[in-house]
Amino acid sequence: MKNGIMFYLIAFVSAITGFLFGFDSGIISGALEAISTEFQLTSYETGVLIGLIPFGALISSFLTGRVADRIGRLRVLYLIAIIFSLALIGILVTHSFALLCLMRFLLGISIGMSIVVTPLYIAETAPTEIRGKLVAGFQLAITLGILSAYLINVFAIGKISWRWTFAIGLIPSTALFIGALFLPESPRWLFLKGKTKQAHQVLFRLYSKKFHPDRVEHELAVIKKSIVKKKNVGVWKELFSKRSFPCLLLGIALFFFQQVSGINVVIYFAPKIFQHVQIGTNSAALLATVGVGTINVLMTFVAMNLVEKRGRRPLLLLGFIGAAVSLGMIAFFTQFDGPAFQWLSAISIFLYIAAFAISLGPLPFILISEVFPLKIRGQGMSLSAAGNWAFNTLVVASFPILLELMGISLVFLFYSAACVAGLLFALRYVPETKGLSLEEIEEHVHSRKPLRKLGRA
Ligand code: BGC
Repeated sequence: MKNGIMFYLIAFVSAITGFLFGFDSGIISGALEAISTEFQLTSYETGVLIGLIPFGALISSFLTGRVADRIGRLRVLYLIAIIFSLALIGILVTHSFALLCLMRFLLGISIGMSIVVTPLYIAETAPTEIRGKLVAGFQLAITLGILSAYLINVFAIGKISWRWTFAIGLIPSTALFIGALFLPESPRWLFLKGKTKQAHQVLFRLYSKKFHPDRVEHELAVIKKSIVKKKNVGVWKELFSKRSFPCLLLGIALFFFQQVSGINVVIYFAPKIFQHVQIGTNSAALLATVGVGTINVLMTFVAMNLVEKRGRRPLLLLGFIGAAVSLGMIAFFTQFDGPAFQWLSAISIFLYIAAFAISLGPLPFILISEVFPLKIRGQGMSLSAAGNWAFNTLVVASFPILLELMGISLVFLFYSAACVAGLLFALRYVPETKGLSLEEIEEHVHSRKPLRKLGRA
């Protein structure tokens, strides 16, 4: 789109929150040993330190939708930047374990907010033709954050203090704050709040009236129409109403399948898994982990380019098939000893990451930012994202136990079976939202036609 630079700027700046999320998930693994030594942590205290991030994120993702509805999408971005930066400064200066825990909790709060508000804000400002691609930019930023943390873990740990490895995160969090100063509020939120004049101004600025006068008028007309039609029903009542509840089920189910595909087991435990397949020394395992991070980034980039061309459904189906097969391969190859099988297991892990990144990574974020009607979008995304954190915690926490009970092959067979179930779910229930405006999607939901029929012939 001519003069569409503003849309990319919005996606770029707000997606920094995704970078913070990925960075924070990855950086702790490299710092943990040094922290444990400095604070002489017991394994219980170590568990608490790790668990505070998902705990904080679960709470805040649950609440963020309402906050974003009340104060606006943009102000939540400022909050994320401020809370994240304060927590990092706290980590840099504190010598108390209790304060360190508090700071980790605050980091969790800020990244929990990010997975709700950023896809929401990008989807509400983007034009239909590139909406999926721009929301996928959020996932790309997550993967870049994870990769950067891995690289810092490999190259900086031992050379600089663990405190400074965290403090590096101040660079993107400051960039987020400064960048947000140049962004407009979501025009759809402004309309929802009755700030019609400002909403007009934002649309003129986004589409540049000079270049796209018809487009601005069109966007104005459809958004207005959908706002006028709103009946005065409470958010909770609407969310659990017969017509809107399938959207919530879809959001929660997508994150359920995303997480039970075992992604964070691979992300958090990658060095351990590579040691298990005995690829080599400790640092070889770490480098293999960097390989995981790199494939994750590259394939997410591919997803961004495919999601508008091929559509959401085909990409999701492809991802479930790829993930089920590669996880099955891991389950199979890890049963045997010998270097050849160990390499085959490692290659299967790379294949799995590729399948995840091209599909199961970005698509839940894209779909949850699209299916909910405006009035319940914030709250619906909040509940779905809280599901993401709850399932994430469940899968990661159960991994060591399952590993001991079942052995590595059966654990991965279990994740593979979960992807087969995900495939069956997607075949039946996932709609196609490519090329449809948010208002067209909303009209379908309000018409009480089954959600799964949306966009499908
Ligand atoms: C998931 C995270 C995961 C990340 C890996 C995201 O889509 O929600 O749990 O760590 O992808 O790239």
